[in-house]
Parts: sequence; structure tokens; C-alpha cells
Amino acid sequence: MTITQELESTISKLAIRGKGILAADESTATITKRFEAVGISSDEEARRTYREILMTTAGANQFIAGVILFEETLNQKNAQGIAFPEALIKMGILPGIKVDKGLVPLANTQAENITQGLDGLTERLINYKAKGACFAKWRAVYAISATTPSSLIIQTNAEILARYAAICQEQGIVPIVEPEVLIDGDHTLARCEEVSTPAFHAVFEALYRHKVKLEYIVLKPSMIINGKTCTQKASIAEVADATLRVLKRTVPAAVPTINFLSGGQTSEQATAHLNAINQTGILPWNVSYSYARALQDYCMKTWQGQAKNIPAAQAAFYKRAKLNSLAAKGEYTDAMENETTSQVA
Ligand code: 13P
Repeated sequence: MTITQELESTISKLAIRGKGILAADESTATITKRFEAVGISSDEEARRTYREILMTTAGANQFIAGVILFEETLNQKNAQGIAFPEALIKMGILPGIKVDKGLVPLANTQAENITQGLDGLTERLINYKAKGACFAKWRAVYAISATTPSSLIIQTNAEILARYAAICQEQGIVPIVEPEVLIDGDHTLARCEEVSTPAFHAVFEALYRHKVKLEYIVLKPSMIINGKTCTQKASIAEVADATLRVLKRTVPAAVPTINFLSGGQTSEQATAHLNAINQTGILPWNVSYSYARALQDYCMKTWQGQAKNIPAAQAAFYKRAKLNSLAAKGEYTDAMENETTSQVA
């Protein structure tokens, strides 16, 4: 296959209406924090077992097109001794890989962070691809305060995201481009809209400058939403309207699929917002999910690190995957939250 054929093949499998992406690529530090919050102690085997629970949930492949892995998981095997990427491919799920190396402060800003990991990226991609990865993820963050995000962070993040995306495509890897405007703080929805618009616009301007082929990317943005501690809570319709307004103004129709991050919304909120966005009529892109917490929270809490809880944990994951799949088609209702979801493989 040529590089273009590889990119075409991958994006055609990721951009299927009603299917989304599971982000299971938490760094060791992050998953340890999430485990500890629900009383699970984190070692390599616990992380392997937990991720196997997610990936082997029977029937989840109806709703999940791809899984983003952390490097540790890419190199681990399932209980049958099959490497996780190979096991996923057998289930019709594409393996992806987080390739950024986390956040570092950007000098001359008010404690704003950029994402590192461009050095040696080509060599790492060659290695990940040999292990089965066909798409990648890179996350850039923007913190909202009265004076941030600065234009310096907006320009720098855009440039780095575009360089990463160009390097991925050169290797036949579809890049997930993730600009995350953080939910932390007391800002209003209007303020989130005000800063997300130039942030997303700058990303697409940089992608253009770096000659990234928009047909072969996944955009993974945050939704336009009020800050976590804001007293003015936006309605589901307000979040959907503002999110679409910003995306329509900044994201070219050549982008095949937009897969949101959940960003600290509850599982139910993330599903309801996605559903409302998809109920607004015909959109230029497929609009779906690439959630970590909103797909995993109930599963992790139910598992508690104990083998006897695995069936219930898988049922919890199946339910969130199914409801988000319905939301990606605008077919979810909140009454479904109270129905028992039967797990059908
Ligand atoms: P959340 O859905 O928990 O925000 O995670 C998505 C993700 O992959 C962050 O990079």
C-alpha cells in the first residue's frame, strides 16, 4: 500500500457514523491518579488487566472503531498471550498510540504549558507502526483565565500540532489533532467560545501552512462549555449551539470526522451534549466521541481491581459505548440511562 492508501484505509474505518474512539492512553501517572481515586493500586499488571477488561468487552466493537493506547499497553499481551494491537485488529478495532510526551511550561507566559515530544518522533512512529499502530494522538492544552490563553500559546500550540500531524502523515499514520480548552475555572460559556475560536482557527491555519492533508486527520476538540466552577450553568442546547457555531467557523468541511474529548464532563453530560450536536441536522463532518473518562469512569469504579467484578465492569463500559454510539447518530434519549442495556456481542 502507498502512504496515501494507508491513510485512506485508516480514516475510512475511523470515520464511520455511530462509531467512536476509546481513549485508553492515560500516562502511568494519570491512570495511577484515577485508580487511586477509586481505591485501586496501580502496578503494571493492574493496568494491563484493566485495559484488557475494556478491550475484550464483548460487542463493544459495534461502537468502538479505534482505541488509543499508551506505549506500555502497546507492548503488553492479553491473557491468551496475544499482543494487544494484534488482538484489537482481530476484533475489527484499530490500534492507535499517544505520541506526545506531556506538558512543559512555555517560557514568557503566565504558567501556560506546551506539549513536548517532537524530537525523535519519526523514529518512534516507525517503531509503533511496526507494532500495529495506524493512528496517533497529540494533545495541546489551553487554560482559561482573565488573561489566558495568550496569543503566544495559541500560535505555539498550533505550530506544534501541525508539525506533529505532518510527520504522522509522512509515515502513513492518521493524526488525531487535539486542541483542548480546559474546563477548569469559573469562566462562562461565552468566554470559552471567545478563546476557542482563535485557538481552533490558528490550528487550521498552521495545518494549512504545513501542508497537512485535512482529509486524513481526526479533530479531537473540547466542546464549548462553561467552566467547572462557573455559577451560570449552560443548558445542553446552549453547549450544542455554541460548539457548532465555533466548529463551523473554524473547521473546514474537508475534515472527515470530529471526535470530542470529554474533558471532565460527567459521563451523562458528555453523551447528552454529543447527542444534541448530532440532532441539529446535517453537518459537514461526522461528529462522534474519543472519550477517556466519560467512557471509562463507571467501568473503573465497578471493577475496583477485583476479578469477580469484571462482568459488571464490562457491562458498564458496554453501556457507555452503546449510548455514545447512539448519541453520535442523534438517537439517544436520557430515559435510556435508566434502562438495562443487554450486552449483545
Ligand atoms: P477525556 O475524555 O477524559 O477528556 O480524555 C480524552 C483524552 O484523550 C485526553 O487527551
